[in-house]
Amino acid sequence: TLKALSPQDLAGKKVLITLGPTRESWDAVRFWSNPSSGTMGACMAMAAHLRGAEVTVVAGPTALDFPSDISVVPVNTALEMYQAATDLWPDMDIGCATAAVADFRPVSFGEGKFKKSDSRDSGLTVEFQPNPDILQSLGAHKNSSQKLIGFAAETADIAQEAERKLQSKNLDLIAANDISKEGSGFAVRTNQMYVLDSQGRREMWPQLSKTEVAWRLWDHLLLD
Ligand code: CTP
Ligand code: CA
Repeated sequence: TLKALSPQDLAGKKVLITLGPTRESWDAVRFWSNPSSGTMGACMAMAAHLRGAEVTVVAGPTALDFPSDISVVPVNTALEMYQAATDLWPDMDIGCATAAVADFRPVSFGEGKFKKSDSRDSGLTVEFQPNPDILQSLGAHKNSSQKLIGFAAETADIAQEAERKLQSKNLDLIAANDISKEGSGFAVRTNQMYVLDSQGRREMWPQLSKTEVAWRLWDHLLLD
């Protein structure tokens, strides 16, 4: 099998991966979300699994499925993802946050379905409130043997933003991509990554498939 051919350099490690979008409901039939497919997270999960890790995925709504020895916790909202990930974190060795978490959720309209006739003349304004930052919370509760990988999606100031997120979320490694470039970001098969680690290494990677990005990120984390 593929696993038998892979280096078992993550054997004995428990790995937590968040992936996919979140859905933030507003009324009975409507939600706020984004086009994340969960592909980068699935690639991180599969690579870790092949390299011997015990993988748990906290997954927002996606079309993905996983081999039965990867355990999957399905969630919808950012609050559910936050709850699941923070509960699992103390028992984990490595965390990897690939999820495209909605930064805000709509202030709920209520249980029922909003009728357009209620707003036909005035237009519709929806109010939002902030969601918790899941990765920041994992970073704030990271012990000395745990490692944490983050991602960043940027359309401007990629280097400064990646630097800031590496520090402020207490990460060991962050992979940032410029989603304004073709061939990077949401629902595409490749990514061009700017990779920064807490040891001071800074690397610009060529455009690679997400499978290869995942493999190299695990290599990078294992450097020391
Ligand atoms: N993240 C998270 N929980 C959130 C927001 C982000 O866990 N509520 C994680 C993402 O999974 C990613 C990293 O934080 O690994 C960076 O996400 P990103 O959206 O690029 O950064 P933000 O800190 O949300 O800042 P902004 O969107 O303003 O750039
Ligand atoms: Ca964000």
